Amino acid sequence: MDVDLEVRGELPPWLAGTLVRNGPARFETGKGSLRHWFDGLAMLHRFGFAEGAVTYRNRYLETPSNRAVREGGHIAFGEFATDPCRSIFSRFFTHPRLRRASNTNVNVTSDGDRDFALTETPIAVEFDRDTPATVGHDDHDDAIDGHVTTAHPHRAPLIGDPVDYVLKFGRRSVYRQCRQRGRSRELLASLPADRPGYLHSFAITERHVVPAAFPLVVNPLSMPLRAKPFGSHNGRDYRYAYGVGSRDNGTRDFLNQLVKVDVRSGRTTRWHEPGRYPGEPVFVPAPDGRSGLLVLDAATFTELARADVPHVIPFGFHGLFTSGR
Ligand SMILES: [Fe+2]
Repeated sequence: MDVDLEVRGELPPWLAGTLVRNGPARFETGKGSLRHWFDGLAMLHRFGFAEGAVTYRNRYLETPSNRAVREGGHIAFGEFATDPCRSIFSRFFTHPRLRRASNTNVNVTSDGDRDFALTETPIAVEFDRDTPATVGHDDHDDAIDGHVTTAHPHRAPLIGDPVDYVLKFGRRSVYRQCRQRGRSRELLASLPADRPGYLHSFAITERHVVPAAFPLVVNPLSMPLRAKPFGSHNGRDYRYAYGVGSRDNGTRDFLNQLVKVDVRSGRTTRWHEPGRYPGEPVFVPAPDGRSGLLVLDAATFTELARADVPHVIPFGFHGLFTSGR
């Protein structure tokens, strides 16, 4: 259901259309955790603009990843950096293309008539712009296969066709740069690579496509054969550590202060009160956290309006504004 947002400021009266943002919204599954920012279950956030007002509604994308978590709490699919327990679950999922992540939580694109949520596996999930309910999976209608793609197709400047790439792992891996025509693609160029890398996007000019090779590379044979996730993080990086400590006041007192340590700078912040001996600090999320929509004038970067939504929207990736309706 649409929620009318309270607008502070003034939205331009001509601003009419739909902004859909995409991003991860759930990381805890009941029986595990999705381990990376790229892996949270996709949620679409829809802002509808008309006549100086804005509405909001959100919806999880209905995907096999989401369904498995909702129905059993299971992480059933290999995501970017989350490896499911394959020995238990792999036999239940036999569709070869859906066994890898269909949790398209990165970007939103439109071919004019149909809207799609994208990630970096070559599966698009179509959604209805108004509700924004999931319509279904959409595979390309061509023979260009691969394991990885970009969530950032670019429009060719002169012809307007979307251009993207697929990366196929193998003994000789290959990047296949493609031009989309409707739901089928036409091969523009093939670039072999012994040690393929992670390519989030690429550059495009009027006449050239420019992929940049970064030093994050993978063993190409371990990816399709072992269904390993692209990223691997055994621990999580962090900046702040919290705990209890003893204040050095010459009295050899017990644990008598709370300490927050910035592990990068070494700077500490302390709480201490004479005669108090605090235990482990426990976090409680702030109840009034909220996210919102900010509308800026692109020329001057001055604020035109803002509108809070009724809850927090986790930090997401990309979005798309479409005029009309
Ligand atoms: Fe991106």
